[in-house]
Amino acid sequence: MAVKKVVDGVYEVGVEHWDRKLFDELIPLPEGTSYNSYIVFGKEKTALIDTVDPEKTHVLLRNLRKLDVKKIDYVVANHAEQDHSGSIPKILEMYPGAKIVTNIKAKSFLMDLLHIDEDRFLVVKEGDELKLGGKTLTFYMTPWVHWPETMSTYLLEDGILFTCDFFGAHIASSGIFSDDSDIVYEAAKRYYAEIMMPFRVAIRKNIAKVKEINPKMIAPSHGLVYKNPDFIISAYEDWVSGDVRNVTVVAYVSMHGSTEVMVNHLYNHLVESGIEVKVFNLTEADIGEYAISLVDAASLVGASPMVLGGLHPAAAFTVTLTGALRPKVKVVGIMGSYGWGGMMVDQAKSLLKGVNAEFLEPLLVKGLPRDEDLEKIEKFADTIVEKHRELGLL
Ligand code: FEO
Repeated sequence: MAVKKVVDGVYEVGVEHWDRKLFDELIPLPEGTSYNSYIVFGKEKTALIDTVDPEKTHVLLRNLRKLDVKKIDYVVANHAEQDHSGSIPKILEMYPGAKIVTNIKAKSFLMDLLHIDEDRFLVVKEGDELKLGGKTLTFYMTPWVHWPETMSTYLLEDGILFTCDFFGAHIASSGIFSDDSDIVYEAAKRYYAEIMMPFRVAIRKNIAKVKEINPKMIAPSHGLVYKNPDFIISAYEDWVSGDVRNVTVVAYVSMHGSTEVMVNHLYNHLVESGIEVKVFNLTEADIGEYAISLVDAASLVGASPMVLGGLHPAAAFTVTLTGALRPKVKVVGIMGSYGWGGMMVDQAKSLLKGVNAEFLEPLLVKGLPRDEDLEKIEKFADTIVEKHRELGLL
């Protein structure tokens, strides 16, 4: 919650939200998250880059008071989503001379989401410059690093690229700079898994643009500032690539133990064949960990009992999320158990139609698996092993 210096004339004045439990009311936040807001003092003008979630506006205002900020000329909105834009109306009220600097698409979003008057905007496009006096901001359009209107802002003299969601991490830290540790990597991967994974193709283009800009630092609006941009750029290059790891993710629910017997048998067979297996019991799993595991797994197996003719609701929730995240898994298997039948497989396939993978022949077992069912599970596992072999992973 404190003011943090990035370089001379540039401070981070946003919020560490230590105790936020869920992001988007969906993804657990074991390390919390942050909404970073950066103030840039030029000799003549002052710019605030991104604001904070509206429930924490008072913290941003406290930090501006701490720096004795009497005047803000520009509020740069790199992204219209409320965790970064939500405090803009209050800032406009507190600093009546301030203009919102953003692109034409974001302007439209902000007018709809926050009911901001049109005359408060200064619209910029690719390559436009804003001189603050010894500090120059240049704007680069980086669409689909979450929403279609996203952009990044480059502070020329200090070589800092402010990327908002792009390269963000779900971590609340009293520090300002990334130590490039495993904790930061996992927090960034958790962020990527939920927010960025569906937009891999667009992100590849934006990574190329960032590499061309060649910033000395990357300052996102979640998490920490990267003094070594290569740490996060190379992580992203890996995640958005077509490369997958020798990992099968198994997500399951079991009501009376039959599906669990299937999962355990599958697990043993896959592991003994040399595949790393990550198992998630969906009644208690951290859905963020599940999403992280999908970032680079080669295969995914969903297992559910049939409930009232369809997927168990906990499985339906996870399958819906998986379809939306569109992971780069190459192989998908569906299996489960049933008592009297239903349409679970059709339901799952329909929800997963956004996943561009090969779907294996589904495997359903009536009741508790018998020996012949266990043999079928071994064959099911063998097919996955074979696919991993074809991918050169074994
Ligand atoms: Fe951090 Fe898409 O907002």
